[in-house]
Amino acid sequence: MSKSFDVVVIGAGPGGYIAAIRAAQLGFSVACIDEWTNSKGGPAPGGTCTNVGCIPSKALLQSSEHYEQAAHHFGEHGISVTGLSLDLAKMIGRKNTVVKQNNDGILFLFKKNKVSFFHGRGAFAAAVAGGYQIAVAGSAPQTLLAKQVIVATGSRAHELPGTPFDEQQVLSNEGALALHVVPKRLGLIGAGVIGLEMGSVWRRLGATVTVLEGLPTFLGAVDEQIAKEAKKAFDKQGLKIELGVKVGAISMSTDGVSIAYTNAKGESQQLDVDKLIVSIGRVANTVGLNAQAVGLKLDERGAVVVDDECRTNLPGVWAVGDVVRGPMLAHKAEEEGVAVAERMAGQHGHVNFNTIPWVIYTSPEIAWVGQTEQQLKAAGRAYKAGTFPFLANGRARALGDTTGMVKMLADAATDEILGVHIVGPMASELIAECVVAMAFRASSEDLARICHAHPSLSEATKEAALAVDKRTLNF
Ligand code: FAD
Ligand code: NAI
Repeated sequence: MSKSFDVVVIGAGPGGYIAAIRAAQLGFSVACIDEWTNSKGGPAPGGTCTNVGCIPSKALLQSSEHYEQAAHHFGEHGISVTGLSLDLAKMIGRKNTVVKQNNDGILFLFKKNKVSFFHGRGAFAAAVAGGYQIAVAGSAPQTLLAKQVIVATGSRAHELPGTPFDEQQVLSNEGALALHVVPKRLGLIGAGVIGLEMGSVWRRLGATVTVLEGLPTFLGAVDEQIAKEAKKAFDKQGLKIELGVKVGAISMSTDGVSIAYTNAKGESQQLDVDKLIVSIGRVANTVGLNAQAVGLKLDERGAVVVDDECRTNLPGVWAVGDVVRGPMLAHKAEEEGVAVAERMAGQHGHVNFNTIPWVIYTSPEIAWVGQTEQQLKAAGRAYKAGTFPFLANGRARALGDTTGMVKMLADAATDEILGVHIVGPMASELIAECVVAMAFRASSEDLARICHAHPSLSEATKEAALAVDKRTLNF
């Protein structure tokens, strides 16, 4: 006899596990299937985000930033450090512990919310009267019966054609987060989010890092002024970023990896490195889902086709997160998971795609929400801009980190905030206030009139709002 559930979720990344919990809260009987396996053969729910993405990368970014501070910046505070050394095995071990705490946390949450968890691969077996049969292949193979299904199978790293990941010399995010020795020479292809975050980790720990980027513009999706400021900071740190390159043949030997490329001037170049990280984007992961068994529609790149509300072409089958269109971000996946569970319950689940924040956790951090100045110009929208540099912020001076600025864009006529762009310390936290403001359709005047604690970095946001009306008080 198959076990029956109101809802079966395939994938326990941020999209899937959050959807499962919300559906259980709403009174559905819920199962969640995930195949991620830890080094001991046990389940490791949490998906890319928890195992080889958001969480471990932030753990290593924090550890490597501490190392860099101790090595180069404690002196400014009158603290001298002698005999500083790096125990990489311990640093990686700490990262693994943080990951495990998150895996265990999700298993606990499943228990607390009465979500039945199945460790193994889930695949469509057949459409049947009133739902779908889902086969679970794992240590205990079985078939579940689902009235409704949520596909949340995530994404995987894009390979360079002809250069598969071996995770020894040519690394995806997985290998990049698990190196046992700091490479002397590290190459990265792709100066996107992973390229900058992983490049920063290994540069701080001592690698000479070169990033090869195909596009002629640095961080093309980011507000130009902010991207320019960030690039200046990365250049100063010694993170070498070559823009407008065309990558050619890549060859591996016992000495390392050689990358032939043409630079922006059209000259042939060669980069020799010990390890190469390829971070050129990610692709939706529908391998093993057996979508064809039920006729689930995928696009030409393998992503599940959904409407604005995450409905697929099949009745009762939904899809959320990296496996569908839209930004590949954990919080976007979570919001879609919640909204789908609520729609299943007849509620009006909603995701506001205009207020999804982005954060790049480098130093300085880069964070933004809403539209960039170049997008507003292209759309012909009349806007006002206000900027405020951290150089003029007391807390930033006290912290010893005055890089960057807050930039606010507001509608010229109504003053509604259209976008906020931050490069600087704790941008990841500062952006939250701006997301709230935009979600409530606040004007820059609203933010400018709200009392902000002193001294705090958030005063730079208030001052940027004042700058929209050309009346900063501290600059
Ligand atoms: P995933 O997290 O990919 O989870 C999918 C799960 O489904 C996996 O556990 C997989 O094993 C499982 N699965 C797949 N197929 C099956 C099947 N057939 N049966 C059973 N299980 C299956 N985003 C942020 O917002 N902030 C960050 O700081 C951030 N940092 C990142 C750093 C790196 C290095 C990377 C690679 C990504 C980062 N991301 C970050 C992106 C974030 O990880 C993804 O957007 C997020 O994980 C997507 O969630 P998801 O639930 O859609 O998919
Ligand atoms: P990305 O899309 O951010 O960046 C890829 C970069 O590679 C782009 O700049 C692109 O122009 C370049 N590129 C593509 N093909 C190339 C080629 N052949 N040669 C040279 N350059 C090439 O993708 P990335 O960094 O792999 O990350 C994937 C996704 O994971 C991100 O888009 C983001 O959604 C998510 N992520 C989010 C993080 C966060 O929120 N802090 C951190 C890391 C990843």
